[in-house]
Amino acid sequence: MNNKAKQVLENLAQLQESASDQTIAGLFADDPDRFATFSARCGDILFDYSKNNLSSAQLDGLFKLARAADLPGKRAALFAGEHINITEDRAVQHTALRDLSATSIMIDGEDMLPEIADVRRRMSEFANGVRDGSIGGQGGKFTDIVNVGIGGSDLGPVMVTAGLAPYHDGPNVHFVSNVDGADISDVLAGLNASTTLFIVASKTFTTQETMTNAQTARDWFAAACGEAAVQDHFAALSTALDKTSAFGISDDRTFGFWDWVGGRYSVWSAIGLSVMLAIGPAAFEEFLSGAHAVDQHFQTADERENVPLLMALIGVHHRNVCGYDTHAVLPYDQHLHRFAAYLQQLDMESNGKRIDVAGEEVDTQTGPIVWGEPGTNGQHAFYQLIHQGTSVIPADFLIAANANAPIGDHHEKLVANALAQTEALALGKSHQQVVEQLKAAGHSDEAIAALAPHKVFPGNRPTSTFIYPMLTPFVLGQLIALYEHKVFVQGAIWDINSYDQWGVELGKELAGELLPMVKGDAQPENRNGSTTGLLDAFHAMRKA
Ligand code: F6P
Repeated sequence: MNNKAKQVLENLAQLQESASDQTIAGLFADDPDRFATFSARCGDILFDYSKNNLSSAQLDGLFKLARAADLPGKRAALFAGEHINITEDRAVQHTALRDLSATSIMIDGEDMLPEIADVRRRMSEFANGVRDGSIGGQGGKFTDIVNVGIGGSDLGPVMVTAGLAPYHDGPNVHFVSNVDGADISDVLAGLNASTTLFIVASKTFTTQETMTNAQTARDWFAAACGEAAVQDHFAALSTALDKTSAFGISDDRTFGFWDWVGGRYSVWSAIGLSVMLAIGPAAFEEFLSGAHAVDQHFQTADERENVPLLMALIGVHHRNVCGYDTHAVLPYDQHLHRFAAYLQQLDMESNGKRIDVAGEEVDTQTGPIVWGEPGTNGQHAFYQLIHQGTSVIPADFLIAANANAPIGDHHEKLVANALAQTEALALGKSHQQVVEQLKAAGHSDEAIAALAPHKVFPGNRPTSTFIYPMLTPFVLGQLIALYEHKVFVQGAIWDINSYDQWGVELGKELAGELLPMVKGDAQPENRNGSTTGLLDAFHAMRKA
């Protein structure tokens, strides 16, 4: 963080200290218009951030922080295709993939529009062919698609496919990611090879898990239908076109993308093919358009109306001013049941950094731990801690105004629960309220004294709420892009590179060294006592 930004952050810390008795309830009591002032719209999505313990003065300070960190300049550099991923010397241009009305897309001095449009056209033709059966396999029309990938080559397609389940009118889509053989075995067990299409999704086409699973899938398929049929049943999504053909996947079944699309930002690229197969090219374009609308909003909306900016600044306030460690994402929308898992990679792989762009150790906290589950299930699991635990956990609530498939009053009950939770978290229940309730229920003074402390809710726990008309492809595109830009803004403020992921490398390196020892082809050498002990135990148990 630059010195100017550091100074603003210090001022914010002082402001926080002097407002130590400020509460969310008090802010609402002082300002009857707080909801109107502390909410913003991005298209049809309403973002209510009024239930955060944040005054106008603090919010102004946060806007100042963004300016001090040169957010406008950094945002311009992102969209201009500058090499903001400095450690890999790459542009970050996934946003270009969702601009369907662009007349040119200049990246590194070259107009990439023809190539981008060509891949999208080929994906659409392929998806249409698979969906209508004109492109089929040994057994005719493909009934099942298996996407083999991991990380960004899995989480995006998995989450979006689940999110848009009501829009599926194509073949069944399955996902295999874990190198644990149980994953692929479980998926293959229910499939007929002659009507199954495998999509090997890997930006690098070197990832151990994916290549292992792809080879297993290939062997399984070839055993059932013969080697010659492999080319009709395998497609590849990758930037490494030499490697896809070496694997035996023909060029016309290979859909490329580019190194300026980060793995966790790649669902907009060819990596989205499984989504397109499930919902069709037209709905996939709506998904892209939703994200593009947010790209425009992010670049043009005023600070006070700019939803990704607000999301990011509230997060910075919680992380750097309040010192909160985690951030929960709680969709009251069952189809978003993989949304938190998706955001974990987006946020934690992007901003889980301790070195800034100048190569120095950061002096503030960076990305929070992101986690969550859909409501109402979470209410019966971990909400106890959110309400009454010793940690304050800021949370995002996501609510659709309309269910995709309404049944009875399920949806109204779902929404009532979401609103109840944010109200309870913000306002809590005082000791006095508890005592009055217990008295009214006829409890003795002694019982009330013993029970009351346990029933108090401190409240003052921050939440933000998104409400959108319905979880459509357009809205899901919007939601993802909002979080993408939130992550960008936070990285810009912390002055870190949000687009590399060196932290995943050491484990890969060591796994490569350890594999021969696990297989028993090499003796443990220069390993620490624990690893050697565990290897011994592993081999002893294997022999038993
Ligand atoms: O986990 C590290 C990572 O490099 C992610 O960033 C990426 O999304 C994932 O592995 C998969 O990589 P690939 O698409 O190259 O197989």
